[in-house]
Amino acid sequence: MSKNNLQLDENGKLKHFLGIEGLNLPVLTEILDTAESFTSVTERTVKKVPILRGKTVANLFFEPSTRTRSTFELAAQRLSADVLTLNLNTSATSKGESLLDTIRNIEAMQIDMFVIRHQDSGSAHFFAQHVKPGVSVLNAGDGQHEHPTQAMLDMFTIRHFKKDFSQLRVAIIGDIAHSRVARSQIHALNILGAAEVRVIAPKTLLPVGIESLGVHLYNNLEQGLKDVDVVIMLRLQKERMRGALLPSEKEYFNLFGLTQERLNCANPDAIVMHPGPANRGVEIESSVMDGPQSVILQQVTFGIAVRMAVMSMTVGR
Ligand code: NCD
Repeated sequence: MSKNNLQLDENGKLKHFLGIEGLNLPVLTEILDTAESFTSVTERTVKKVPILRGKTVANLFFEPSTRTRSTFELAAQRLSADVLTLNLNTSATSKGESLLDTIRNIEAMQIDMFVIRHQDSGSAHFFAQHVKPGVSVLNAGDGQHEHPTQAMLDMFTIRHFKKDFSQLRVAIIGDIAHSRVARSQIHALNILGAAEVRVIAPKTLLPVGIESLGVHLYNNLEQGLKDVDVVIMLRLQKERMRGALLPSEKEYFNLFGLTQERLNCANPDAIVMHPGPANRGVEIESSVMDGPQSVILQQVTFGIAVRMAVMSMTVGR
């Protein structure tokens, strides 16, 4: 079965949310529009709607996470679901239980939706292939493959500040090779029709064949930032690097760190984004992170509404 079929039902509606690749403009637009309607809920004094009342959501985190785990949890709670969050990197699987046995056991607790983060690429698809019909799987990051809700909250942030994708030049900077976020963002920007997507990185941090996704490559930050409207910084994912891909963090900052001076090469009203966690002084200067062009904390807030949207679309079909 193709990745596309696994995510969409016969009416083209979202059944699981596993990756941006293979999705289409109507689905992405529906996610953004639904999230828009949920932003007002998250601003109310009583931040709840009954859409997932009586449903149970299990957050299965096989890798550490702060933002993603807590915003998925809050999203489910604000939709009135019962929520179970399991940090499985310290649990059953480390005692040798197979992923399939873990699925079966948790499913026996009558779960309606799984949110899964796992170190292996393809794990969310594997889950979706093995859950019972009617149960939804949302990918909260699988290995170096995709992180679709992060990409959609990034798209929501871009649309909020810049309105029209068709005029936008977007630069994604840093450790592209190890980034599931970059992969999902590139697919999303292509589907939403961004005018140009650039990736800026040292050659050692660019994955082979990335040009096939239609992006323009730059190895020089100043040149790559010229005329850009959206600047997306990525963390150096040292835990995923095998061998020495960089001389040192200091050297990396000297060449690829976002300083205010370098940011001035982009359009004056460019926004600066980062999925977090950010390493101040490694990929981004502290003053830029806290500066007027940074929308990094808005991304976190929007993440709740976007995750509410995806949850309501998959369970509420
Ligand atoms: C990202 C992830 O885990 O892929 N973070 C996140 O979800 N907010 C990026 C990262 O870890 O650098």
